[in-house]
Amino acid sequence: MKRRSFSVLPLFVAGVCLVVLVIVAPSEAISHTKYKVSGKDVVPSRYVVEFDYGDSKSANSFVHSVQSKFKKAKTHIAEQYEHNIFNGFSFGLNDLDEIEHNTALKTVLDYSHVKAVYPVRVVRRPKVTVEKASSKGKEASILPHAMTQADHVHSELKKFGKDIKVGVIDFGVDYFHPALGGGFGKGFKVQYGYDLVGSAYTGENSPAPDSDPLDNCPADTESGGHGTHASGIIAGYAAKPDVLTKAYLMAYDAGMDVMSVSIGEDNAWSSGSDTIVAQPIAEKGIPFIVSAGNSDSSDVFTVGMPSTAKDVWSIASVENDNNMIKTFKACSASKKMEYMNSSTSQIPNGIVVSGDKNIGSDKDACDASTTPDLKVKLAITQRGGCNFDDKAANVAKAGAIGLIIYDKSGSVFTPINPKATIPAIGISAADGLTLLDGIKSGAETLKFDLAPTIIPTKNGGHISGFSSIGASYELDLKPSLARVGGGIYSTLPRNFQSWGFMSSTSMAAPYVSGSVALLIEARGLKKKNLVISQQLKNYALKLTHTKGKNEIESPLLQGAGLVQVYDAISGKVNVSPTQISFNDTSSFAKYKTQTLTVHNTGKARVVFKVINEPSVAVAPYNHQDYIFKTSVTLSAGQKTIVRITVVPPKTNPKDHIMCGGYIHFKSSNRKSALDATVPYFGVVGKQRELSLFDAKYPYLSDTNGTKVYSKSQTYIYDRSNCKTIPNIVYRLLTPTAKFDVDVLNAKTKKSIRKTMTDSVYLARNSLFEDGYSSKVTWDTTYVFNTFSGIPAKIPVPSGTYILNLRALKLLGNPKDPKDWETFQTGPVVVKN
Ligand SMILES: *[C@@H]1O[C@H](CO)[C@@H](O)[C@H](O)[C@H]1NC(C)=O
Ligand SMILES: *[C@@H]1O[C@H](CO)[C@@H](O)[C@H](O)[C@H]1NC(C)=O
Ligand SMILES: *[C@@H]1O[C@H](CO)[C@@H](O)[C@H](O)[C@H]1NC(C)=O
Repeated sequence: MKRRSFSVLPLFVAGVCLVVLVIVAPSEAISHTKYKVSGKDVVPSRYVVEFDYGDSKSANSFVHSVQSKFKKAKTHIAEQYEHNIFNGFSFGLNDLDEIEHNTALKTVLDYSHVKAVYPVRVVRRPKVTVEKASSKGKEASILPHAMTQADHVHSELKKFGKDIKVGVIDFGVDYFHPALGGGFGKGFKVQYGYDLVGSAYTGENSPAPDSDPLDNCPADTESGGHGTHASGIIAGYAAKPDVLTKAYLMAYDAGMDVMSVSIGEDNAWSSGSDTIVAQPIAEKGIPFIVSAGNSDSSDVFTVGMPSTAKDVWSIASVENDNNMIKTFKACSASKKMEYMNSSTSQIPNGIVVSGDKNIGSDKDACDASTTPDLKVKLAITQRGGCNFDDKAANVAKAGAIGLIIYDKSGSVFTPINPKATIPAIGISAADGLTLLDGIKSGAETLKFDLAPTIIPTKNGGHISGFSSIGASYELDLKPSLARVGGGIYSTLPRNFQSWGFMSSTSMAAPYVSGSVALLIEARGLKKKNLVISQQLKNYALKLTHTKGKNEIESPLLQGAGLVQVYDAISGKVNVSPTQISFNDTSSFAKYKTQTLTVHNTGKARVVFKVINEPSVAVAPYNHQDYIFKTSVTLSAGQKTIVRITVVPPKTNPKDHIMCGGYIHFKSSNRKSALDATVPYFGVVGKQRELSLFDAKYPYLSDTNGTKVYSKSQTYIYDRSNCKTIPNIVYRLLTPTAKFDVDVLNAKTKKSIRKTMTDSVYLARNSLFEDGYSSKVTWDTTYVFNTFSGIPAKIPVPSGTYILNLRALKLLGNPKDPKDWETFQTGPVVVKN
């Protein structure tokens, strides 16, 4: 009864400097079971509302009723989703103060037909590297088609994916590119398309949709040619944040046979909000293909949403076998030298001389006064001191016909010199010094090769170093499949020189979509068919680990393996499910025995040995203890069930070893049947026992986040000085599905109230380095639910408090107090 009186306190008490800082999401005072906050990068005051199934109430009347209750509110509907897959809308709620805002939101949450409300987040553009640009198209051996058997399908079966509609959800496409059909609309390769955000969209501003998905952004913009590159890999859609939901539904309604998405977020929860539309579409048997992510393969659980959704295909990247380089021959050197360039004109052959009187000066050719006479010569200079355009202008003034820039210490690079009047190229430091030696010992001449040279790639045929690793936090086996994504040669927008190399799992995902198109066409399969996924996964090629060349790479890096589209088309036996997770030791009883259905759809009798092939474990261990042996014989059309029981290795459960491998159906006669495989994995140990908070954390820190207060130190917050407001700094070693903070009375240790809403589906902090942590500012309020049900943020009265942080252990039961990890800070004195 006593506590209730606080509800009459105004939020902003005179003289009290209350800085309300964002904790995980804005409106953190909202604590409601239907309110689903997950992750960072929240767009303030914008929400997606999901209606319960079957609700036909339109977004307009809904927002109207909110508006009539909150007259001051400025509301607008951003997107509407009236769809059997996802029913709801997104809207902006502005011009209300915080209490009114939260009250309005609470009203929305309380409508019985509202299933959930999600704050809108920004989805960042994926990182890709445009490695080289080239004006030439289609050098055969640089295309990775041989690695994935697409060459066979093209040449032997003459299938090119005709009439298969692939929906690409990406950043726009330069459909005027000749290889993408040179136009837009009926009769062109890019037939449908919509720009849901407009070219000026950043994720933070308002989208300005138009019906033209053209990517003609200039070369220095962030678009990076991503969409055009992806479209060149398959044969159009463009979109971003809560807009993605709209894009998925539009592509679905446009009858796309395949969805290809190369946009995502670093968070490995299978059930995070990004997956709510992707999962039901995938469940219908439409291949929903998403890049696994480019978060580096040195850590587990780095696969990103929405590729983590249960039935969505998460695509890892494999390095291309070959790479294409541009070369020239210097008269004084026996080996050819590599160069890169960005100018459009061909650099001429000729005599090369020093482009600066003090060559190697750290400011070569930055000043016209140190440039010698260079008439009709190629000039060489060291990189640095000024930009490439200035260097080119100075040597051109002195008569040079081309510029060669060598790096000070590194390797070959691309000089960006848009204003240069003469062509310029970049070469390595070593080659630069060789040329300078050549110049010293007499005339040095250069002859440029007109055709590019194909060279083998170092890690060709292995998983790319940037490709993200599974599993999902719920222990679904991810990624699902691999395809070549490292060093992909494809279309770039014409503003980016039309053709070039890019590396990213974003490149691998559209490539898989292309394979799906070939498979559907060649097999005459019905669309929306689970067989599509079975065929591609069962017949994928298992890659080896980069180190032990004979050891099989873990399914947590490659999923079922590298797509082999020809085998997927010709394989007559399919095995389902296409992957198995034995979960962890806590759930072992439930998952240790699983069944596989093997179906012979062919006309011949087939015999398989069923073999266990363990892969390298993801922790640096290698265990071979999953045991079973059997064989199966299937007559034409027959189906049988194989029961697999796992015997976990006797490793220390504290190591949480993730072991896996492949159940290999080895055919006794490759003429009657191809080999098929199913990947599996499981964790030895209980995920629930993993600690959540890093030992050095959590702690309180000052406003700057620099000074650390240990549990024995008292923190003093003086409300008359905002610069003394406290921060809670924590570091999650393990992801958590629920996180909250309670305010305790320091003396009684009793809880007063929560300080913030429950956060859901938080990813763990990066473990690459010390120092990756999350900071939450405690604005010294707590959340109070009044009798009218309206939550308010109430400043605590002056006094001493302790904060109690609680996080739900991984795969833990929220109702079991033992499944929560807690941490109490030292005392915080709050003075008015
Ligand atoms: C770079 O050099 C090549 C070969 O020297 C030339 O054909 C091309 O026009 C130059 N520019 C680009 C963008 O490749
Ligand atoms: C593993 O077990 C946990 C706890 O029962 C469950 O929540 C999770 O969905 C399971 N994962 C898979 C892939 O079955
Ligand atoms: C916090 O940072 C500001 C700006 O860098 C600095 O002026 C101030 O002294 C710092 N305060 C503390 C307590 O370190």
